[in-house]
Amino acid sequence: MFAVYAAEPNPDEPLSALRVGERPAPDPPDGWIAVSVRAASLNMHDIWTLRGVGIKAEQFPMILGCDGAGVLSDGSEVVLHSVIGDAAGFGDETLDPKRSLLTEKHQGTLADTVVVPASNVLPKPAGLSFAEAACMGTAWLTAYRMLFVKSGLRPGQTMLVQGASGGVSTALIALGKAAGMRVWVTGRTPQKRALAEQVGADAAFESGARLPARVDAVFETVGKATWPHSMRAVRPGGTIVVSGSTSGPDPSADLQRLFFMQITVVGSTMGTRAELADLLSFCAQTGLRPRIGAQLPMTEAAEGFGQMVAGETAGKIVFTR
Ligand SMILES: NC(=O)c1ccc[n+]([C@@H]2O[C@H](COP(=O)([O-])OP(=O)(O)OC[C@H]3O[C@@H](n4cnc5c(N)ncnc54)[C@H](OP(=O)(O)O)[C@@H]3O)[C@@H](O)[C@H]2O)c1
Repeated sequence: MFAVYAAEPNPDEPLSALRVGERPAPDPPDGWIAVSVRAASLNMHDIWTLRGVGIKAEQFPMILGCDGAGVLSDGSEVVLHSVIGDAAGFGDETLDPKRSLLTEKHQGTLADTVVVPASNVLPKPAGLSFAEAACMGTAWLTAYRMLFVKSGLRPGQTMLVQGASGGVSTALIALGKAAGMRVWVTGRTPQKRALAEQVGADAAFESGARLPARVDAVFETVGKATWPHSMRAVRPGGTIVVSGSTSGPDPSADLQRLFFMQITVVGSTMGTRAELADLLSFCAQTGLRPRIGAQLPMTEAAEGFGQMVAGETAGKIVFTR
């Protein structure tokens, strides 16, 4: 079958490990089902996979794509939940130490067909296109959990999103605005800051800029490049929610500031099936839709991957089949 895959790990030149070609069609094991993929979105996780981060060398070649939307053999339209883990044993599948995300152990969604446990598909709301629904399973679910499950923010409070144009960043901006937060954003270029305002930000600032006031919570996916600013931007007693470290994983913690200002730092990863169901319902009820910056056929995946590696994002990059 057609597939977009990582041939081998390449830490320095991830795009040279990318292949658009053919892979064997999957055969679903007991309890798993086949989904005919209509759309899948690109996440930074796919770039990490090409670099060999978070995946064992023996798992290559690996079909890329952590999320998606498609059709079952009976014609039902579904959204994929890409966390494969034991919810019953741990109360939350994201807390299962053996959990994995599609593309870590199991083949991903950038293909004609993907197989997943039967409990990992949810009905696609009729009002969401396949392309919009394909954005929900990773970036939007991660943003939903950061904001509504982990941050403790209440409507009316002020949030800062580090990064303006990325998948998780644009999801945080849109969800925060829809929920009644005052949303501030940092972005690296005037175009990216303008995009953040189009998506719903109340104000957008240059990276590292002094803000008009300290914020109740900061949302971090950038890491080293923005961490010192996040520590300065949060109010005493405020919260920093972290789900990524694109620019590097080893920020100086600034422990003195952490305890003196009584800052809470919270880690967050993906979300549960129930949270994905709530997110889909939130979008269906509010009319909120993801910002899709580029939509390309899967055959042109290399173009979209190149845009993400170059930092040329304007919302989600989606591939259709
Ligand atoms: N823990 C989880 O479950 C989870 C789930 C999803 C994503 N993540 C992580 O979250 C991160 C973002 O993923 P994504 O898919 O949203 O990626 P993306 O679409 O490529 O977005 C990258 C974002 O990072 C910002 N950025 C990158 N380098 C920067 C720098 N040096 N200084 C300031 N800003 C910088 C960009 O800001 P500009 O707009 O200003 O360019 C952009 O908003 C990745 O590290 C990913 O692995 C984690």
